[in-house]
Amino acid sequence: MKTSEVVPGVYRLSANIEDILFEGFWPIPNGVSLNSYIVKGEKCAIIDGVCNWDGVPETLFAKLDEINVKLEDIDYVIINHMEPDHSGWLDAFKALKGEFTIYCSVKAKKLLDAFYGIVDNVVTVGSGDTLDLGAGRVLAFEDIPNVHWPETMATFDTLSRTIFPCDAFGSFGSVSDDAPYDDTLGEEFIEFFQRETERYYSNIVAAFSYPTLKAIEKVEALDVKVIAPGHGIVWRRDPYRIIRDYKRLAAYSKGPAKPEVAVIWGSMYGMTEMAVRPLVNAIEAEGVPVRVHRVPESNLSHVLDSVWQCSGVALGMPTYEYKMFPPMHSVIDEIGKKKAYNRKAFRFGSYGWSGGAQRELDKILTENKMNWDFVEPVEFNGRPTEEDLSLVRKRGRELARKVKLWALESSSTEDE
Ligand SMILES: Cc1cc2nc3c(=O)[nH]c(=O)nc-3n(C[C@H](O)[C@H](O)[C@H](O)COP(=O)(O)O)c2cc1C
Ligand SMILES: [Fe+2]
Ligand SMILES: [Fe+2]
Repeated sequence: MKTSEVVPGVYRLSANIEDILFEGFWPIPNGVSLNSYIVKGEKCAIIDGVCNWDGVPETLFAKLDEINVKLEDIDYVIINHMEPDHSGWLDAFKALKGEFTIYCSVKAKKLLDAFYGIVDNVVTVGSGDTLDLGAGRVLAFEDIPNVHWPETMATFDTLSRTIFPCDAFGSFGSVSDDAPYDDTLGEEFIEFFQRETERYYSNIVAAFSYPTLKAIEKVEALDVKVIAPGHGIVWRRDPYRIIRDYKRLAAYSKGPAKPEVAVIWGSMYGMTEMAVRPLVNAIEAEGVPVRVHRVPESNLSHVLDSVWQCSGVALGMPTYEYKMFPPMHSVIDEIGKKKAYNRKAFRFGSYGWSGGAQRELDKILTENKMNWDFVEPVEFNGRPTEEDLSLVRKRGRELARKVKLWALESSSTEDE
């Protein structure tokens, strides 16, 4: 838990969480930070909180001393987003402080009652509303619904032009005590956070890519100088770097993504597996990089990260009880729910006597309106023959060429 000054009068209180699964199921091998902000005018507001992981909020309150803020000085609590990673401290805050006034969106008001039984002293605000803290500091609110829940809003400090967008522009990754800002981090650490942003995006934000693009439009209209998200580092030197990254990642929903192929496969007895290496070699021979994940060994979090960033996806699975190998079914279904649309794709795999994967795959593709463009599948009976493998190689090259062509077409449309 640490405090630091973002800009004069704006302080960050941050805690790193390391030993949980985020949202109950995403691995965070590098941890994640939870950021809360104190904004001082004549009045004082706290924006979002840090849920009671890691000994907070008590530790958080102890840190208030460092920035000369007393608990009784906090006049307003601003809730940008009701997900308990940011709002879970409210019970403890209430127990320590007693009454306080909450500013939140109309939709958050109902959730405040549902999650914490809070109904009094709640002021609802939305785009166009402001809160004057005095001393020239006016906070403006902007609805950014569905980034990541429907009630989400962003708060903008018009004095320092700092935006507090909560989950938007956030990332996984713990933040070091002395360098929680893009201007205090070396390039290699910024790139580390970029990779953590990519996995965070594909796991947490991907399904909301359209609302995210809408939110980015609103942020771009504000002439923002600092981006202070609820997770990850604060962007002071180059806030447009994380905006560009989020735009790029949101655009991957419709594709094209990077001209690369994610090969996602599972196998019980090694028959499907025999086709994986020939496939990977064929794709790479076309100069297209490949990211390979075996399921269920590779965690869904990493599979989604790869699929999100690749224009091409190859799916390998055997038939199991007249359907797809179940771990592959579950992964593909999740990919669909995350709205990875328009991928170039290929399916291959082994069966014993019947096949049956295609019907199930078609169902997932249709239900999620995925619009994937498949080259012809290769299914083989038992162990793949040399002919089966050369067909797999051929389809792999076709897939790689489609991926390259898509990249070319989209770069020429951008040039026009
Ligand atoms: C539990 C189980 C269920 C299976 N169900 C089917 C099936 O419904 N239809 C079929 O054609 N093959 C079925 N098979 C056979 C496998 O698809 C076949 O052995 C295949 O070669 C396995 O490929 P793998 O080694 O890549 O796992 C089943 C195998 C197992 C172990
Ligand atoms: Fe959230
Ligand atoms: Fe969050």
